[in-house]
Amino acid sequence: MCGIVGYFGKREAAPLLIEGLSKLEYRGYDSAGVAILNENGVNVAKRKGRLANLEAALEESPIEGYVGIGHTRWATHGSPSDVNSHPHTNGDGTIAVVHNGIIENYIKIKEWLMTKGYTFKSETDTEVIPNLVDYYYKGDLLNAVMEATEKLEGSYAIGVICKNEPDRLVAVRNESPLIVGLGDGENFIASDIPAVLNQTRDVYLLENKEFVVMTKDGVKIYGDFEKEIEKEVFHVTWNADAAEKGGYEHFMMKEIHEQPKAIKDTMAGRIVPGHPVNIDDIHITKEQIEKLNKVYIVACGTAYHAGVVGKYVIEKLARIPVEVDIASEFRYRDPIIDQNTLMIVVSQSGETADTLAALKMAKERGARVIAVTNVVGSSAAREADDILYTWAGPEIAVASTKAYVTQLIAMYTIALFFAEQKGTVDPHDLEDMKKEMSTLPEKVEAALASEESIHELAKRIKEHTDMFFLGRGTDYAVAMEASLKVKEISYVHSEAYASGELKHGPIALIEDGTIVVTLATQNDLFDKTVSNMKEVIARGANVIAVAQEGHTEIEKSTENVVFIPKVMDLFTPVVAIIPMQLLSYYLSIEKGCDVDKPRNLAKSVTVE
Ligand code: M6R
Repeated sequence: MCGIVGYFGKREAAPLLIEGLSKLEYRGYDSAGVAILNENGVNVAKRKGRLANLEAALEESPIEGYVGIGHTRWATHGSPSDVNSHPHTNGDGTIAVVHNGIIENYIKIKEWLMTKGYTFKSETDTEVIPNLVDYYYKGDLLNAVMEATEKLEGSYAIGVICKNEPDRLVAVRNESPLIVGLGDGENFIASDIPAVLNQTRDVYLLENKEFVVMTKDGVKIYGDFEKEIEKEVFHVTWNADAAEKGGYEHFMMKEIHEQPKAIKDTMAGRIVPGHPVNIDDIHITKEQIEKLNKVYIVACGTAYHAGVVGKYVIEKLARIPVEVDIASEFRYRDPIIDQNTLMIVVSQSGETADTLAALKMAKERGARVIAVTNVVGSSAAREADDILYTWAGPEIAVASTKAYVTQLIAMYTIALFFAEQKGTVDPHDLEDMKKEMSTLPEKVEAALASEESIHELAKRIKEHTDMFFLGRGTDYAVAMEASLKVKEISYVHSEAYASGELKHGPIALIEDGTIVVTLATQNDLFDKTVSNMKEVIARGANVIAVAQEGHTEIEKSTENVVFIPKVMDLFTPVVAIIPMQLLSYYLSIEKGCDVDKPRNLAKSVTVE
């Protein structure tokens, strides 16, 4: 977690660092800080809480200088406080460090440094880094950082500045993301591209253990033993506006409305009626697909819910057994994996620690890995054998929406591709599916028209403290995702149950007025789901039903029905989630919550 930035150039560093940090607050917002070099040495300003607190502090006591580093924190070691905020410095304040990641052996290092006379102010793991750099510093900052990082175990992206070398900024990454932004006479480091996009579109995507040295003459990248590396410049083609709110009050609403385009972009060239499914970045052969004995889909949170849909559709269409696992559980069991096993990791950021650990484990055991990710050059993309990018564009709101629907599209694409290769679906049916899939952008657009009525619904139920979501088959996957959205951004306690499980315990929770959202979008399961719905109505529940247009009979059971456009049953998850996202958004608004930055959460979970 956390976001780091750095600047070396000819302009005042402070405003540029603040601007970069503002684009990284989605990575954590427990505190923010900067360290800037000038003739007085290293000057640090840091404040607990949102970036605005740091901005106010800098307005009151500005720091001038053309070289600096900055940090926005999601607390891991040590509570959110001024003293635990980054940057951290060595004892005499001549070396400052910002860090994203976790130093797993920091206690050992701290104890060792203490025997050498070093003292510590904070509870953080990070504080060992500037002190370790200090220990190794013999007049060459790059060397000292190289030696210090040799001792570190865990994940880190760090930026370092030093009073004795005011003409240098050094940075390095290991298992935490870091990019370099290349400007005209000025350069940047950042945890993510949006932080530099207002300044430059040319970036280096750093690999693990690549060291960056910025000076007035430019940027040099070194591997181990100071060997200089030639990096390819990656030119960012997406618009800077794409990383801004674009007129919406919140990123989440903007991203909800971007879904038709995100779906279209993700399908483009891959699902074309009349043509075979084309996934040019996946090189698995027909023979290899035929030999697959098992597919594991591994992910966390919302991405896991996309995986649940993936299990249904891959099993149904390609007739391959699929297990879907939460990454944090998968890595600690002993799954049966061999060279005929395929793992599909699903991760918007491509940086989720548990998902990456599962990926590595599968590879070590001989499995082939496909990464479904939204971030070009992310760790998942780099480490997997094949990549299927979801072209959702940058997702800033902590609550995932457009990345989720594009992950669903990826699941369908893989299922159709495997089915086509294996011949497990009649070609005419396959063609119908491709045609139907191509209509999803307009169906999602039509589903967005329910926004006003969903807002009214949210107003009516906003005082409730508990909610339940029910569904069968893929509707159960949608119920899980809807429930997560509600609890995540509106802090309403909510649970999702498979409709059939209700009578095995959870129905005891239903009482007069309990809000139960019933997903009933599957034609072949419709009657059964309506029966389950009636069971909770009989016990006093206030039911909101979600059904496909035309199923007007459901209105006999409840007056609260949200109709979604008619769509082939297979694809209802893509459309049914839309009113659920809107419901969670408006509940959050009505309850006065911070929609884009819900409490205790961060966008990218890069620690276990
Ligand atoms: O970047 P990832 O897709 O790996 O992230 C996984 C989860 O942390 C993420 O989906 C999380 O559950 C979302 N905030 C939910 O909206």
